[in-house]
Amino acid sequence: MLRYGLAGLGLVAFGAAIALHQPTAAGAAENPKLQATAHLYDTYCAQCHGVQRNGKGINTVGLSVQPRDHSDTVAMSSLPRAQIVKAITEGGASVNKSALMPSWAGVLSPAQIEDMADYLAYVCKCEQAK
Ligand code: HEC
Repeated sequence: MLRYGLAGLGLVAFGAAIALHQPTAAGAAENPKLQATAHLYDTYCAQCHGVQRNGKGINTVGLSVQPRDHSDTVAMSSLPRAQIVKAITEGGASVNKSALMPSWAGVLSPAQIEDMADYLAYVCKCEQAK
């Protein structure tokens, strides 16, 4: 599952992983796939999208476009799953959004990106909203 292991997990992401166990990974702990994807999120996404998944990561200072708030049920529900998958795979520019959202095709496998789309639906509670 964690194809690249946790070798790249820096100190900041490590701290993020610990802090995360309060809001979102608490429920994810009951689901191994969600939990594994939560760790991928901490490693690759949290610096921009935030430890709390609210778009307020430590790397957002100076970004001209702020990262999506993944905890926003209404906003996230408005994004088709195919667009979310494409944005993660090919980057923001591929869906006419900011190129500040990187492409992850070289880092995450297609299966991991599908898992990420499932995880984002969990984070935003979009399933319940429908
Ligand atoms: C370098 C900062 C950065 C990182 C790292 C990053 N993102 Fe983003 N992301 C952004 C920004 C900025 C936007 C907002 C783009 C816009 O609205 O124009 C965004 C938008 C998105 C969107 C919404 C796309 C849409 O169509 O509105 C998704 C989904 C997303 N990111 C997922 C991820 C995932 C999953 C990861 C980790 C694998 C990740 N991002 C890592 C900066 C980042």
